[in-house]
Amino acid sequence: MHRSFRNLLLVAVILVPLFGFTAVAYASSSSSGSKALPGDPTVGAQLFAQNCTACHGASLEGGIGPRLNPITHLGNVKNPLDPSYLIHTITYGLKGVGGYSTPMPAKGGNPSLTEQDVKDLAAFIIQQNTSGTSELDPIALAQSNIFWVTVGVFFMILVTWLLAKYNMRWIARRARQHSP
Ligand code: HEC
Repeated sequence: MHRSFRNLLLVAVILVPLFGFTAVAYASSSSSGSKALPGDPTVGAQLFAQNCTACHGASLEGGIGPRLNPITHLGNVKNPLDPSYLIHTITYGLKGVGGYSTPMPAKGGNPSLTEQDVKDLAAFIIQQNTSGTSELDPIALAQSNIFWVTVGVFFMILVTWLLAKYNMRWIARRARQHSP
């Protein structure tokens, strides 16, 4: 094996996994905060139909209360999709913020909703607001990127090696021709 090729291979063997680990670590650290839903959105959908559609509409389009998909920025919080804001609002209700004539009753007026029910409702609202924006979760995306970058790096090494080999042959031939 030619020496320059061996050095190149060594660099690739060190750099490619390093790049891979960094990318996966970054993806998993940034995903855990934003992606996780606070509850079960499927259960939340049923609870929403039973308790919330009268004011927020069957497709979350709003009515007596504000539109929930896309969620209305009432101006009271920076991010109305923040799970803790949703859970707090659904649990305790809301009034006097968006200029609506009817207040938002605690638990939509159904005190039998449990803490888990409220989390499922919040999960449903978040899921409706975010569905369709990112199909591939960040870890899968990072892994597919790493795969293709690795393939690309090895392809480039192969091309470089072939060129180097060809070049060395050419130099050798020239040397032979010019030798006395
Ligand atoms: C009687 C009507 C009514 C019912 C029933 C109702 N809401 Fe509301 N909701 C409102 C009103 C009105 C507001 C806005 C209050 C304000 O601006 O002060 C609101 C606000 C909200 C907000 C805050 C929206 C934002 O953009 O910040 C959420 C979340 C919410 N409701 C969820 C629910 C859920 C989940 C249910 C069912 C458990 C529900 N609501 C049932 C009337 C209702």
